[in-house]
Amino acid sequence: MNGVTVISHPLVQHKLTIMRKKETSTASFRRLLREISTLLCYEVTRDLELTTERIETPLMEMDAPLLEGKKLVFASILRAGNGLLEGMLELVPAARVSHIGVYRDHETLQPVEYYFKAPGDLDARLVIVVDPMLATGNSSIAAVDKLKERGATNIRFLCLLAAPEGIKNFTEAHPDVPVFTAAIDDHLNELGYIVPGLGDAGDRMYGTK
Ligand code: URA
Repeated sequence: MNGVTVISHPLVQHKLTIMRKKETSTASFRRLLREISTLLCYEVTRDLELTTERIETPLMEMDAPLLEGKKLVFASILRAGNGLLEGMLELVPAARVSHIGVYRDHETLQPVEYYFKAPGDLDARLVIVVDPMLATGNSSIAAVDKLKERGATNIRFLCLLAAPEGIKNFTEAHPDVPVFTAAIDDHLNELGYIVPGLGDAGDRMYGTK
C-alpha cells in the first residue's frame, strides 16, 4: 500500500501475537508494548538525517555521526498512545513530547478533542504521532489536523495495528503522512474494533473495562 510500511521484523511479529492473546495479563501486555515500541521506533527513525561533529576519542579526533536538526517530537494520542511513548523515549531520550487528547465517541465513532499540548516550533521538527490502533482513522486524522494547524509539516504516523478502513481514511486525509504499522488486520467490526485485533488497547494496558 502506498505510503504504508508494515514492520515485519520477527521480534515485532512474535510480541504482537502474544499481545493479541486474550489470556495475556495486563502486566505482560504493558511490558510487551514497551518492548515492541522500541523496535517500532527503530524502524520509524531508520532514515533520519545525520550530520557529523568533530569529537575526540581517547585515541584521536574524528568526524562522528549525530542526528541532524532539532529534536524529534513524539505526539501521543491519549490515552493508549502513552503505551508506545515509554519505549520510544528510552531510545530517543531527548525527544520532545506532545499530548493530544482525543477520545472516540462510542456511538458516533467520531473524535472529540479535549486536550492539546505541543512544543511551539513544530514547523522545525519531525513529529511522530503514536497511537497503537489505527481503527476508523478519525482520531488520528483529527490529531494530525491539529498538529498541521500548529505548523507541523513533517509528520509520520506510527501504530501497532491498522484496519484497512483506517488506512484508507487516513491516507486520503493526509497523503503526505507516511504510516508505519506492525500489521494490517482484516476489517473493522460494527463497533469500530479492529478484527481480529487485540481488543481495546487502552483497557488492556491499564486493566480497565
Ligand atoms: N481502539 C482499540 O483500542 N481497539 C480497536 O480494536 C479499535 C480501536
